[in-house]
Parts: sequence; structure tokens; C-alpha cells
Amino acid sequence: MNVLLLGASGRIGQRTATELLSRGHAVTGVSRSGTVEGVDDDAFVAVAGDATDPDDVAKLAAGHDAVVSALGPSDGDSPDVLTAMMEAVVAGLRRADVDRLVWTGGAGGLSVGPETLLIETDDFPEEWEPVARAAIEAYDILSEAEDLEWTYVAPAALIEPGERTGEYRTADRELVTDEEGDSYISMEDFAVALVDELEAANAVHTYLGTGY
Ligand SMILES: NC(=O)c1ccc[n+]([C@@H]2O[C@H](COP(=O)([O-])OP(=O)(O)OC[C@H]3O[C@@H](n4cnc5c(N)ncnc54)[C@H](OP(=O)(O)O)[C@@H]3O)[C@@H](O)[C@H]2O)c1
Repeated sequence: MNVLLLGASGRIGQRTATELLSRGHAVTGVSRSGTVEGVDDDAFVAVAGDATDPDDVAKLAAGHDAVVSALGPSDGDSPDVLTAMMEAVVAGLRRADVDRLVWTGGAGGLSVGPETLLIETDDFPEEWEPVARAAIEAYDILSEAEDLEWTYVAPAALIEPGERTGEYRTADRELVTDEEGDSYISMEDFAVALVDELEAANAVHTYLGTGY
């Protein structure tokens, strides 16, 4: 596939670019700076663009088969930029006539039990609340875009640089936890989950949790 990767210079974005390229996809990687460290491949091109601008998104997306987002508020940005990004990306894809969108979301809106979301639990770190709320608002915007073939893929509660094992589990709108009750995924395996879903389209119109 010819893939537009938004947020390609970020921690998850770089690993997603590497995963896409290892499977033979062509990747256009977007960030505001237009530079992506650590990704060097003939099938990769880094470009500058603003994902809060629907015109920019439409121009960048044109001619691609699908868009993958690993966008996040960079240091110093308000978490609310996530909703501006979602609005611009949805509008930009429509204008570019690209249907498929795989979005890196947040775990805060996943269920951890009957009628309880992760963000509502006592242990949820206070400092993560603003970005988790913005990610849920961004999901609400996406969930109304029924004309797009979207999947909102959330990491586990904890995601860090680690190993690529190729093993992970998913759950529809639920937090994935291991036998000890921990919710974790490496960024490398999260990138595997994003690209698996891009290729298989098993969870269109789904808020997917991932973890071990
Ligand atoms: N447990 C969880 O739920 C959890 C944990 C971690 C992360 N996440 C989510 O995963 C996503 C990515 O995380 P990350 O740690 O990989 O983020 P990151 O390292 O901060 O990367 C963010 C990327 O977005 C780009 N970007 C920011 N503003 C942009 C704009 N206006 N236009 C174009 N590109 C823009 C950045 O590049 P430039 O700054 O150069 O533009 C960068 O490539 C975030 O949405 C975050 O909320 C969820």
C-alpha cells in the first residue's frame, strides 16, 4: 500500500514507519519539521505538513491508499490539539477521497469493568487526564465519520519503547490486561498491531484496545 503516516517523527510514528517499510509498504511520513530521524529507506519520504490544517491534510493524503496517524500533542502543545487534528484529518481525507484511517488513540476511554472507563479509576494518573480526555473527545468526532473506514487503536495503559515480539492481544473497547492484571505493550508491538489492522481491516468502526 501507499501509506500516508501522520506523526512519523514521533516515538510511535518512527516505529510504525519501520514496521510498514519492513512489510513492503511505501510510506510518506509527515511531521511539522519534515524530518524523521532513524528511518532510512528508498520507499520512505519525509515531508512537512500541519495535521491541524484540513487543506494540508487533503493535499498530503491525495493519491495514498490509506492514512495512519501516530499524531500526538508535542511538548508545549495543549492536549486539545488532538481534537483539532481529528477534525482536520477527517475533513482532509474526505476532500482527498481517501477512505481508510487507522488512528493511534488513547486507552483512557476503554472499559475496565461494568460501566467504568480506565480514566474514571482512582489509580488513573492525574497528569494524564487532560490528554486522555482530549483523546476521548477525538474518538467522539471520529465515531461520527461513518463514511470513512476508520479504526481507533489504543495502546495499553502503559506503552514504552521495548521489544518487537509480534505477539499481542486486542479487545473491542476494553482495556487489555495480562494474567497479573497489568496493561502494557511495547511501542514496537503496538506498531505491529497498527499495521496488522491496516492490512486486515478486521476492526473497521471499532475502538480497539491492545496489550499482552
Ligand atoms: N496509554 C495511552 O493511551 C497512550 C500512551 C502514549 C501515547 N498515546 C497516544 O499515542 C499518540 C502518539 O504518542 P507518541 O508518544 O508517539 O507522541 P510523540 O512522540 O509526541 O509524537 C507526536 C508526533 O506528532 C507530530 N505532530 C505534532 N503536532 C503536529 C501537527 N500539528 N502536524 C503534524 N504533525 C504533528 C510530531 O511531530 P512534530 O512535533 O515535528 O510536528 C510527532 O511526529 C498520542 O496521541 C498519544 O496520546 C497513548
